[in-house]
Amino acid sequence: MRIGSLQLSHPYCLSPLAGYTNLPFRLVIREIGGVGLCTTDLVNARSLLEDNPKARLLTQTCPGDSPLAVQLFGNSPEHMRDAAALLESRGIQSVDVNMGCPVPKVCKTGGGSAMMGDPASAARLVAGMVNAVKIPVTCKMRLGWDDENITAPELARALAAVGAAAIFVHGRTREQGFSGRVNLDGIRAVVEAVPGTPVIGNGDITTPEAAKAMLDRTGCAGISIGRGAFYNPWIFRHVDHFLRTGDTPPEPTFDERSRVMSRHLELMVEVFGEARGCRMFRKIGPWYARRMGPSHEFNRRITRLESRAQFADIVGWYRTWRRQFLDPSGELQPRYRPAALAPSFLQPDETAAASPATIPVPKGAVSYW
Ligand SMILES: Cc1cc2nc3c(=O)[nH]c(=O)nc-3n(C[C@H](O)[C@H](O)[C@H](O)COP(=O)(O)O)c2cc1C
Repeated sequence: MRIGSLQLSHPYCLSPLAGYTNLPFRLVIREIGGVGLCTTDLVNARSLLEDNPKARLLTQTCPGDSPLAVQLFGNSPEHMRDAAALLESRGIQSVDVNMGCPVPKVCKTGGGSAMMGDPASAARLVAGMVNAVKIPVTCKMRLGWDDENITAPELARALAAVGAAAIFVHGRTREQGFSGRVNLDGIRAVVEAVPGTPVIGNGDITTPEAAKAMLDRTGCAGISIGRGAFYNPWIFRHVDHFLRTGDTPPEPTFDERSRVMSRHLELMVEVFGEARGCRMFRKIGPWYARRMGPSHEFNRRITRLESRAQFADIVGWYRTWRRQFLDPSGELQPRYRPAALAPSFLQPDETAAASPATIPVPKGAVSYW
């Protein structure tokens, strides 16, 4: 897939997840393979221009972290334009404009998801950015505010007309939050609205089969995965394998999961320092453990993590403790295996999205991304 001047190795992208898609996580994903483009958490354009330390940390990158899109939010066309130019001057390969942020402070001033209701202003803002840089400028949106206001096709058309290089669309309305089903017909309508511009389908892709269904049923040029990548950092490699061969790759072994989890912590320590990196890892470790079998005691210990040495002790202890759940060949006994994930749009009815086989969303504003 090509996004403007950027040729991607795979048409599979990592969605921005504020608080999660930092440099260590992106490197973990890239080392496993299969991903074509990673995106940062959203970054306030003005803070970036003011060289605010938080914005600087959010945009921290390294040569192995490429190609990278930085996602910007803001309502000022001048700030957004200048921030895009600044990112280009720092060697960033792509800039994404957030049109889905639900935080009232952002929406009230016309930024984030408020842009979905005002295509003309959104297009003016994006035109200013496109004219200021050579790197691709992409836009990420939901289908619209609610079922009565499905604005994504019209908005996408306005943005494509001013040179947006790709449109990322989460197939739900803002009102839906993360409930109900991802609407593949809604994404298809966006694809049909902008024939010359790649549309990247997003929402609930948690299995290779879901990736294939999203591509086949919407005609989108690529897919973007958020929570599914946190739950299973192997997902891009698995999607790629499945789409090339038709085979579902085996689940990573416990040893492989622990290796990648340990690598993730190493990278957290490298980027954030040992004390902070370990503290931040307290919410990451349990994501890995979800697919390792019973893990309540592992989670309890990891939520007090202070050091790498302590991490090594916890993993060593867990390896021994979980033996009681294994069969003689070293596999988890069937009753301890995690349930298969069930993407909403592959379910027969609306209750599906609330089933335990979906990935939980942290509470708060984030539930309307
Ligand atoms: C914790 C969390 C943080 C998110 N942060 C962002 C963000 O910074 N920018 C954005 O455009 N979308 C954000 N989103 C939305 C995701 O990028 C994505 O569109 C949504 O989660 C649906 O995809 P998924 O089902 O693959 O997770 C966030 C979602 C979650 C759950």
